[in-house]
Amino acid sequence: MKIEVNNNTVVFNNKKKKTEIHPMWLRERVNSKEYLDQNTAQRLFDPSFLENIKIKDAIIKGNILELTFNDGVHSKFRINELTSEFLDTNNLFNTVKVNLWDSSLKRYPKYFYKKNFFKSKEMYNLLKSFYKYGFVIIKNLPTKNNFIINFANSIGNVRPTNFGEFFNVKSIYRPNDLAYTSLPLSPHTDNPYRKPIPCIQLLHCIENEVSGGRSTLVDGFKVANYLKKINPSFFRILTKIKVKFKFTDKNVVLENNGQLIELDENKNLKQVRFSTRLDFVPILKKNELDLYYKARKKISDLYNSDKFKIEFKLIPGDLLMMDNYRLLHGRTAYNPNEGKRYLQGCYIDYDSSEGKLRHLKRNFDN
Ligand code: OGA
Ligand code: ZN
Repeated sequence: MKIEVNNNTVVFNNKKKKTEIHPMWLRERVNSKEYLDQNTAQRLFDPSFLENIKIKDAIIKGNILELTFNDGVHSKFRINELTSEFLDTNNLFNTVKVNLWDSSLKRYPKYFYKKNFFKSKEMYNLLKSFYKYGFVIIKNLPTKNNFIINFANSIGNVRPTNFGEFFNVKSIYRPNDLAYTSLPLSPHTDNPYRKPIPCIQLLHCIENEVSGGRSTLVDGFKVANYLKKINPSFFRILTKIKVKFKFTDKNVVLENNGQLIELDENKNLKQVRFSTRLDFVPILKKNELDLYYKARKKISDLYNSDKFKIEFKLIPGDLLMMDNYRLLHGRTAYNPNEGKRYLQGCYIDYDSSEGKLRHLKRNFDN
């Protein structure tokens, strides 16, 4: 691919496919110090005020494109920066490889906490693994002073909820959520009743003396793809019907609607929701609901089956970071008489993980 100039037009030539670059697109990227604040990399002019921008003169010298525009502005551009923007090569999601998994996943992505961890190359690898697998386990974290908040705020910013900045997962008397019991939790996504739904859940093990209470994870995107293959009509109805999710306690009533499998505008998987403690299907025609209930039963069987679920025990100091839009998580039951089980949990959003990943990428990958 290369940039060419031809009669005062700038042309992007990619595999013999030539595309003229709009003069305004280039004028917006003028980067000399009168036009771009060199400290913040923010514009000192408002391109939305400009009109009828044309190129009066264009030359290429090595890796530099030099342009003079019809409003008298002259600027130099690095060609490799233009081509990289044109090809979107810096887009995180073009560089991080996604690996959908099932229970045959052998090596879980694991990282060991140490000093200066959050600025390290290790952290960069951790975040890439997080996007690859939808989860990572970090070991050897301090278990005192609500370290989870420190962890969350070192990646980005904790996302507080009505449960507070973080929540304590232990078995208590008359809790407002079944997570705070010793009952088993089948694979679910957290908080589908919130607006917006928290993107990433962190669960930090403080104590775990019981023989049960094992953690489970399922890659919801792997299951959704499998369902699409084996039963397209089940898949279709789950991507269509919006279910209401509702949480109620004495202080608040939270509600949000969404499909069990949500697709984006290109029909790619965007998000899964599954929380059978809190879902309410709308009243629809009987035959449509008939199909919906069959499809929900099927996906529930798949989420709960040994074909897709991994199971492991968290030990004190372990932190599980998981993508709440892609993975489902749960736990097996435990007997509180055997000893203590205490996890702390909190949420962060993609804003945090993506922001940190881009920052580390510019430090380690350039
Ligand atoms: C939760 C949850 C799992 C566990 O608190 O959201 O799913 O291992 N907990 O207790
Ligand atoms: Zn949960």
